[in-house]
Amino acid sequence: MSIKVERLGKTFFARIDGVDIGSPLDAETISAIHEAQLEHGVLLFRGQHIDDDQQQAFTAQFGPIEPNLRSDIEFIAPLGNIDKEGNFRDPDGTNASFLRSNQQWHSDSQFFKVPSALSFLRAVSMPKEGGATQYADTKAAWDALPLERQAELQDLVALNDLQNSRGKEGHTLAPEDRERWPIIEHPVARIHEETGARALYIGSQVTSISGVDDEESQALIKELFAHSTQDQFIYTHEWEVGDLVIWDNRRCLHRGRPWDEANEARDVRRTTTAGTGPTTENGKPVDEYARAQAA
Ligand code: OGA
Ligand code: MN
Repeated sequence: MSIKVERLGKTFFARIDGVDIGSPLDAETISAIHEAQLEHGVLLFRGQHIDDDQQQAFTAQFGPIEPNLRSDIEFIAPLGNIDKEGNFRDPDGTNASFLRSNQQWHSDSQFFKVPSALSFLRAVSMPKEGGATQYADTKAAWDALPLERQAELQDLVALNDLQNSRGKEGHTLAPEDRERWPIIEHPVARIHEETGARALYIGSQVTSISGVDDEESQALIKELFAHSTQDQFIYTHEWEVGDLVIWDNRRCLHRGRPWDEANEARDVRRTTTAGTGPTTENGKPVDEYARAQAA
């Protein structure tokens, strides 16, 4: 099967045609999709009306599939305003406030010591208006920095705290969540384990930069956020039912856009593949590419 790749964004994001993702793929097709994913960072598959089992099987062809963050037995995470039973979530409930933080720029499971590699999100139902997802190419953002600035930033490590993003939506982590996801370190710019390219890794969970005084640290976070999310690095995806998007958490940030949550269903379901790690050792970024090459 030969696939067609069409770049939609300026520096990343491509649409893939010519593949039926609901059936098992041959090795050649998997490798062509993998190549496209490394090159373009985010891939859109359109008109794929698959079910949860097919999404799970599709995902598992690209790496070890991870259990859903809030369950150790299920692989599909319902991340819209519709729960697994098909009911609207209470917009004032704790699940809703937890999930609403997805509207802040982030990389998935950046509060894990070893964050997910790829995320797969499928649109099952969409509101008439709103509810897009935006992606920011933080590799292009890194590449656009002057060499001197890159040299100043490349050995820095940031503290990541899930409560930071959740707190902005008025959500307080339950004690078991706090215990499970302590504050951890990640590089300010990660080295991609497969391409060797750096990408800024400043999501909404970042609270401070290690070893930098507080005022400077806050200014730096603000600067890097503002830099990464400039128009030229962003692609906005307007969903159609039957879309499945794969993104590389090591290469981009993303955020959901609001919609009329109280009245309109937005049913999106996510699977992820496991990354490798750790990303830092003894307070320094790990060269994840060198590590992968040596393995
Ligand atoms: C996610 C996510 C945003 C959205 O699935 O990880 O952040 O638009 N989704 O639903
Ligand atoms: Mn996300």
